[in-house]
Amino acid sequence: MKNLIRLPGLIDPHVHLREPGAIQKEDFQTGTKAAIAGGFTTVLDMPNNPIPTVTPEALQQKIDLAKGQLFSDVGFHFGASRESIQYFSKVQDLVFGLKLYMNHTTGELLIEDEFVLEEVFSAWTKEKPIMVHAEADTLKKAISLAKKFNNKLHVCHVSLKEEVEVIKAAKQDGLNISCEVTCHHLFLTEEDVKRLGSYGMMKPPLRSKEDQEVLWQALTDSTIDMIGSDHAPHTKEEKTGKKIPNGVPGLETTLPLLLTAVNKGQLSQEKLIEITLTNPKKIFGIPEQKKTWIEVDMDESYVFKNENLQTKCGWTPFAGMKVTGKLKKVVLRGQLVFDGKNIFGPYGRAMV
Ligand code: DOR
Ligand code: ZN
Ligand code: ZN
Repeated sequence: MKNLIRLPGLIDPHVHLREPGAIQKEDFQTGTKAAIAGGFTTVLDMPNNPIPTVTPEALQQKIDLAKGQLFSDVGFHFGASRESIQYFSKVQDLVFGLKLYMNHTTGELLIEDEFVLEEVFSAWTKEKPIMVHAEADTLKKAISLAKKFNNKLHVCHVSLKEEVEVIKAAKQDGLNISCEVTCHHLFLTEEDVKRLGSYGMMKPPLRSKEDQEVLWQALTDSTIDMIGSDHAPHTKEEKTGKKIPNGVPGLETTLPLLLTAVNKGQLSQEKLIEITLTNPKKIFGIPEQKKTWIEVDMDESYVFKNENLQTKCGWTPFAGMKVTGKLKKVVLRGQLVFDGKNIFGPYGRAMV
């Protein structure tokens, strides 16, 4: 007997689809195939492309490129830079959030200057989140700016105990703040870096067992609002080359890992839906997808293999891990788009 359950199509608010400019890593087709193969019918794409999405022209070029290529629905985030502030009012209706890098990572987007940061928080619409990459102490600065300028703040990939504490306090303080956690921070620790080498390197890095336990607790008590895969593919050549880029793919491993946690009693099924659908939908104002659902077999076990992935990068830091809970079917607006093996489409839309 199969133990099949039906869930709504899931939402991932944080993916790097890499097009344009880095299509050796991923492109709109392969990235959204990976989304569908992972149960995500909506994903939001990040702006840190080689030519960053920081002008209305770059955003429009991205939208035009995406059209006709998408297997899942895709929405976009705009990038914050000194020069992009002038375009905020022009683009805010076309995107779901503003991504602000306050620490250095892949790409050129980074703002450290206090004065520019103030301008960013002051100029961005109060209706849509500013998504910050802000680790440890930098997070405190982001929170005080959001407080000062009354912004909706979304904290990407929380990974440290102290970050959880700061966010918890800000929530109690009445701030309009939300946050996400990745599955690599929930299921891997710094111990795994020894085994994974550069394939276990991302920003923020893998943390201690103690941090990991705090993340699980924060999911349970709703300090953490959602899962963001931070799907950040890089090729094997890049990951084993001279200058190793940070980032790991995540779209195809997130749901099975979470289903495994449900099977272990670490997470309730209600909580799973809250963190992969209800909360991201509410916080990012994502429209309803009619007649869209996924089917999983809660009892089917399998081992993640690099060979079986849709992502162009062709590897996962979870290779060799056994999971229980398998995606069997995805239906998007009444169309079968995944039958457990094959992907059909492209039937996705650019959400603008
Ligand atoms: O590990 C990361 N990779 N962290 C980021 O913030 C960016 C991402 C990427 O785009 O590769
Ligand atoms: Zn980030
Ligand atoms: Zn990211």
